[in-house]
Amino acid sequence: MANYDITVIAGDGIGTEVTRESNRVLDAAASVYGFELRRNELPFGSEHYMQTKEIFPDDAFEAAKDTDAIYLGAIGDPRLPVGLIEYGIIAKCRFELDLYINKRPIKLYDERLCPLKDKTCEDVDMVIIRENTEDAYTGMHGFAHKGQPLEVATQTMVYTREGTERAIRYAFELARERNKNKHVTLIDKANAVRAQDLWTRVFAEVAQEYPDIETGHAYIDAACMWMVKNPEWFDVAVTPNLCGDIITDLGAMVQGGMGIAASGNIHPGKTSLFEPIHGSAPKHAGKNIASPVAAIMAGAMMLEYLGEKEAATGIEGAVQQLLRSGEIKGLGTGVHATSEVGDMVVNQLQGASASL
Ligand code: IPM
Ligand code: MG
Repeated sequence: MANYDITVIAGDGIGTEVTRESNRVLDAAASVYGFELRRNELPFGSEHYMQTKEIFPDDAFEAAKDTDAIYLGAIGDPRLPVGLIEYGIIAKCRFELDLYINKRPIKLYDERLCPLKDKTCEDVDMVIIRENTEDAYTGMHGFAHKGQPLEVATQTMVYTREGTERAIRYAFELARERNKNKHVTLIDKANAVRAQDLWTRVFAEVAQEYPDIETGHAYIDAACMWMVKNPEWFDVAVTPNLCGDIITDLGAMVQGGMGIAASGNIHPGKTSLFEPIHGSAPKHAGKNIASPVAAIMAGAMMLEYLGEKEAATGIEGAVQQLLRSGEIKGLGTGVHATSEVGDMVVNQLQGASASL
């Protein structure tokens, strides 16, 4: 029987509650589909930092690197300086594990979840591939004459040919694998950020190797507009890090909001990290009212990555069925108890397997 070692960082706020439900669903999937999951649970996050001043110590990080995947609930706390824990945990993993792909499926599971008029589930079904290690995120920033009237602030946007190419290539491969519209859109801001001309050129070069895949291009501002007006135009889109950060939140809304959106931070073949894209929502923490659906979807993505495709599809199907039947009435906070949704997905998975 296949078995996998997973590092779990449930994190802050609602992170612990949604991770608990996602764990239950993953365990149910393991018994239905026949594999084993072993968990290496880590206590890191803001609360742990406030008590110990530890963010993600080296020995724990090294141990996490030896596991098959990392699952992250949510981190962040308004009592701490902006970015401290985010950079210390998420960005540390992204950079030190070289998780160069941020994969964001944007799929509408039920029309009622879409805020756009007259859009169907067929219209909203795309994957955004966000480059995940470069651009404005490399941390190369500085201030001169701090606090003075002539203060200067700079931040360098970094693009390497290798980093650009591997993200673009991943997108073309995915378009082939999805076999849907066989279309890849490049989204960038190369008309203003001229360094992104590298993206324009590398995209054209890689496209030549994929004559079966059609290509398109949109500047990020226009892409935001098209995402709302004609989401059906997108199949796979590839984009530099910062543009990708922005458009994936917009995409999350189009598929039903933060309550459903999940992401994979991936280095193909290596330890990769999966997370719901919502934050820790401190004001809802500890009340058992946050929706765990996004966390459950992140778990499904992790299984898909680990090669348990049937189990991943099983979880996705169970969630879709519960949304379409109206049993899950909504993804907002307080619509259901967190644990109630976990129960529903577990039962649905077990029921589906009983009828196989
Ligand atoms: C995301 C988040 C992060 C990002 C933040 C928390 C630094 O918004 O994963 O999209 O900007 O990458
Ligand atoms: Mg973001």
